[in-house]
Amino acid sequence: MADDCKKAKTLATGDRTIPPPDAKMITIYIMGREYQVPETLTIMKAIEYAGYSYTRGCGCRGGICGACGTFYRFLGDYRLRSGLACQTVAEENMVIMQLPFFPANRPGYDLEQMTGDAHEELRRLYPEVFKCVGCGTCTRTCPMDIDVMDYIALMKRGDLKGAAHKSFDCVMCGLCASRCPAQISQFNAAMFVRRIYGKNGLPVAGHLAKRVEEVKAGKYESMLKEVSSMNPEDVKKLYVEREREPDMAEAGKWMPKDTSKL
Ligand code: SF4
Ligand code: SF4
Ligand code: FES
Repeated sequence: MADDCKKAKTLATGDRTIPPPDAKMITIYIMGREYQVPETLTIMKAIEYAGYSYTRGCGCRGGICGACGTFYRFLGDYRLRSGLACQTVAEENMVIMQLPFFPANRPGYDLEQMTGDAHEELRRLYPEVFKCVGCGTCTRTCPMDIDVMDYIALMKRGDLKGAAHKSFDCVMCGLCASRCPAQISQFNAAMFVRRIYGKNGLPVAGHLAKRVEEVKAGKYESMLKEVSSMNPEDVKKLYVEREREPDMAEAGKWMPKDTSKL
C-alpha cells in the first residue's frame, strides 16, 4: 500500500471497496461521523465505501428516480447545499445528510371525477400553493436546476400548461418542499398539474387507445403464454438478441423487420 493510504485513518465501519494504491483519501462526515474515503466517488458511493448499505434513499443511481436527495455543508461554510447523492461528487470536509423521504402534502383525488375548473381544483387540493412568498429557496435547492418558484408562480396565475412544462424534469426528490417557508409541496402540486393538463389539455393519443383495445381483446395473450413457459435463460437470450431500435433513429421513423407482434 502506498504511503498516502497508510496515512489515511482507519474506516469507522466496513471497508468493502479497496481503493487503488495511489488513491487520495478525503475526509467527509456522514450523519455527523467522520470517515476517510477515496476522492472522486459520488456521495452515494462514498457512503457505501464508509460501510453503509442502502435499503432506502437509493434507486436508479442515474439521476432519474429522485430517491437520493441530499443536503450538505462544508466545514466552516454557513451555506446549506443540496444535490442528488448519486450525481454529486464527495469533496473534502463535506458534512452530509441524506433525505430519503419528506412528508409532503399528498391529497387523494380522482381525475376522472374532475370536470370543473382545473385551477379551482388546484386551489382546493393544494391551497398552500397560493401562499408562496417568492423567496426562491426552492429554486436554489433544486438539484435538477428547475425554476421551482417560477412554476409555482405559473400555477398561481392559472397557467397550468406553463407549470406542467416547466416542472417536467422534476425527479420528486422533495428537497424543495423540505425548505419552503410556506410549507408548499411543490412537486406533488406539479404532478397534479401535469396530470390534469394531460387529461384536459392534450389530445388523446389515438395509437395508445388502439393498443389498449388490442390488449383488452387478448391480442398478446398467446405471446405472453409462450414467453411465460420458457426457461429464464431462453428469455434472457430472447431479450439480448431482440431487434432493437438504433440509438440515432429518427423519431417515429423506425420499424422492426418483423411487424407481426405489433
Ligand atoms: S422541483 Fe423539488 S422535488 Fe422536483 S427535482 Fe426540484 S427539488 Fe426535487
Ligand atoms: S420556497 Fe416556497 S415560498 Fe419560497 S419561492 Fe419556493 S414555493 Fe414560494
Ligand atoms: S438514486 Fe435515483 S436519482 Fe439518485
